[in-house]
Amino acid sequence: MILVTGGAGFIGANFVLDWLAQSDEPVVNLDKLTYAGNRENLASLQGDGRHIFVQGDIGDTSLVERLLAGHRPRAVINFAAESHVDRSIHGPGEFIQTNVVGTFRLLDAVRGYWAGLEAEHRQAFRFLHVSTDEVYGSLAPHDPAFAETNRYEPNSPYSASKAASDHLVRAWHHTYGLPVLTTNCSNNYGPYHFPEKLIPLMIVNALAGKPLPVYGDGMQIRDWLYVKDHCSAIRTVLAGGRVGETYNVGGWNEKPNIEIVQTVCALLDELRPRPDGQSYAGQITYVTDRPGHDRRYAIDARKLERELGWRPAETFETGIRKTVRWYLDNPDWVAHVQSGAYREWVSKQYASA
Ligand code: NAD
Ligand code: TYD
Repeated sequence: MILVTGGAGFIGANFVLDWLAQSDEPVVNLDKLTYAGNRENLASLQGDGRHIFVQGDIGDTSLVERLLAGHRPRAVINFAAESHVDRSIHGPGEFIQTNVVGTFRLLDAVRGYWAGLEAEHRQAFRFLHVSTDEVYGSLAPHDPAFAETNRYEPNSPYSASKAASDHLVRAWHHTYGLPVLTTNCSNNYGPYHFPEKLIPLMIVNALAGKPLPVYGDGMQIRDWLYVKDHCSAIRTVLAGGRVGETYNVGGWNEKPNIEIVQTVCALLDELRPRPDGQSYAGQITYVTDRPGHDRRYAIDARKLERELGWRPAETFETGIRKTVRWYLDNPDWVAHVQSGAYREWVSKQYASA
């Protein structure tokens, strides 16, 4: 079996659902259920004996040791993190706690477990750390896309904490021999994406008749990847990645934010037209920029293609259409995640918008 951390969040839940749709290998899912963790993401696995959910913290060493000893996984895949840049600006403490201290404690518990395995299992074991392209900092308009050899230049508390976690993972390999793999992925989108991030926020605000807040001039560029393609990349790296290596994962889909928002509006105009016949684009509102806002991210994913044959299956056009449809088809999920805590965040973040 495998141990997944953070498997009730956006990418982790998609990963667990896809994993169990494709294989019968059981998953132990350790998730603290922060505001971003949602057991409803895993509702379709209720009663499925292949999925064992445990609420807990990756930094809880005795719990992690118990889970490892009890379930004896062949791999650990670490999704657990605080993941939202804007939240990291308001309150970086939790980011240091989970992304840095938590990853350290998890690594150390896994090292103890791994060292005690029989030779054959020790050799086959993998610790796969899921990270982000944001560790590389910001690109100028004509810079080449991020390669695995780019220097780390994180600019936000979030990306700095993820960079620190990547360094710890690297050190646990070089110093202790732990068989690690690291993936650095670009911006994901798709089902179960918490509506504090750009794409789901725009969908839910549009449908609610609220403003669509675009930071600064809206010309910041991200490289968008459909979440299920990220999950397939992780499975590919887990199966065939070279121990100690990092692999960049991206969608070859660089787009400025304003174009993303306009695309979402156009799809909603087609699939759920506004009652007054106007375009949702009329709700676009430019607001104060994010402090330290990275201008451009772009991933060069050629290493993953060359070594392991991975390429994304979705284009942006197919992926965004599926995503908008998913939000239209799942109004209950949307209503449930917009809890009191969510409303508090929105009023704090967009107070002056
Ligand atoms: P998310 O915020 O939706 O989910 C994070 C999950 O981790 C939640 O279920 C939360 O409850 C859990 N968690 C938080 N702290 C924990 C702790 N201390 N112990 C156990 N569980 C804890 O995040 P996501 O978007 O699904 O991202 C998953 C991973 O992928 C993160 O490591 C993130 O840095 C990385 N990543 C995300 C993106 C993206 O576009 N979303 C892109 C590249 C990399
Ligand atoms: P986000 O989804 O928070 O991801 P990240 O900051 O990790 O890339 O934001 C994506 C882009 O969208 C980023 O450039 C910030 C911008 N953005 C807005 O313009 N308005 C918003 O309300 C949000 C949440 C993000």
